[in-house]
Amino acid sequence: MLRTRLTEILEVDHPVMLAGMGGVSYHELVGAVSEAGGFGTFGASTMNIERMESEMEAVKAITSKPWGVDLLTAAPGDMEAQVRSLIAHGARVFVAGLGVPRDVVDLCHQHNVLVVSMCGKVRHAIAAEAAGCDIVVAQGTEAGGHTGQIATMALVPQVVDAVGDKIPVVAAGGIVDGRGLAAALALGADGVWVGTRFIATPEAQAVTGYKDTLVGLGEDGTTISRGYTGKTCRVVANSYTRHWEENPGELQPFPMQFLRSMEDGVNHLGLGADAPDIDPDREFFPAGQGVGAITSLIPAGELVERFVAEAEQMLGRMGSMRS
Ligand SMILES: Cc1cc2nc3c(=O)[nH]c(=O)nc-3n(C[C@H](O)[C@H](O)[C@H](O)COP(=O)(O)O)c2cc1C
Repeated sequence: MLRTRLTEILEVDHPVMLAGMGGVSYHELVGAVSEAGGFGTFGASTMNIERMESEMEAVKAITSKPWGVDLLTAAPGDMEAQVRSLIAHGARVFVAGLGVPRDVVDLCHQHNVLVVSMCGKVRHAIAAEAAGCDIVVAQGTEAGGHTGQIATMALVPQVVDAVGDKIPVVAAGGIVDGRGLAAALALGADGVWVGTRFIATPEAQAVTGYKDTLVGLGEDGTTISRGYTGKTCRVVANSYTRHWEENPGELQPFPMQFLRSMEDGVNHLGLGADAPDIDPDREFFPAGQGVGAITSLIPAGELVERFVAEAEQMLGRMGSMRS
């Protein structure tokens, strides 16, 4: 067992969190990770409130262990309604995927819900801690999805130095196995927040071709593009990302570019395997640089166990290096 401040505050067995991936992290995946002793997080950014509520009800049939909800963007009014809903449906954690959620920190704390903030820079983490957030995720540029410029290896220890004496820091970006977990702990983090590796599981929701594409991709198969959303997003490189590399002057800001990719028929994130007309060479497949290490689908619960077993083995190996 690996016990850290994260396992204590979340009341879970293992310091492994499922990233709240929009379009991917639904009740089957969230339930499998939490039931295995990790911490499952819904990616609710692509859900309307009715779907979010039915998902939160559905996870209770899979596990009675704690789980959380990640909301990426929302107008302030919407965010409060969604946060009230996740509180009412029994979430243990609210993850703010974009910006520090100052308006709802007190509301969450009044209902014993922890607040997590995603951070790509040290100053984001300092602002999150000052606003009362309970945990920060330091997400490096290697990460799949919307991402910044600072690498995980450089970012995590600097965030630990800035806020780690006050709140737990969780490492994210390019972490796909127990070696990554051991490395994150060595950098001073209290656990890991894992996205891409959990897409390649039977439980993840994904349009046709997404999981197969990840399994076949090398470490250099991703790129940061603004083509799908208007914001910098790490995705599988394809003919659509190349078009925007060659025509950057046509790019529009969020949300116009997001609507453009929908109109172009290349953005089906949020739909399942029955989504029609997917062209894998143009489709929106967010993925991180760790993808080259993914060679097969593995059940999510087994993945959680592998993360911990490999990390324990690696920490033992590191311990035996001391003379
Ligand atoms: C398909 C996909 C969707 C994502 N959606 C969200 C989201 O809605 N909110 C959020 O905070 N982060 C989102 N992310 C980023 C993840 O939360 C996480 O930080 C990232 O996946 C970690 O890096 P990794 O993919 O290398 O493990 C997404 C990532 C992926 C791959």
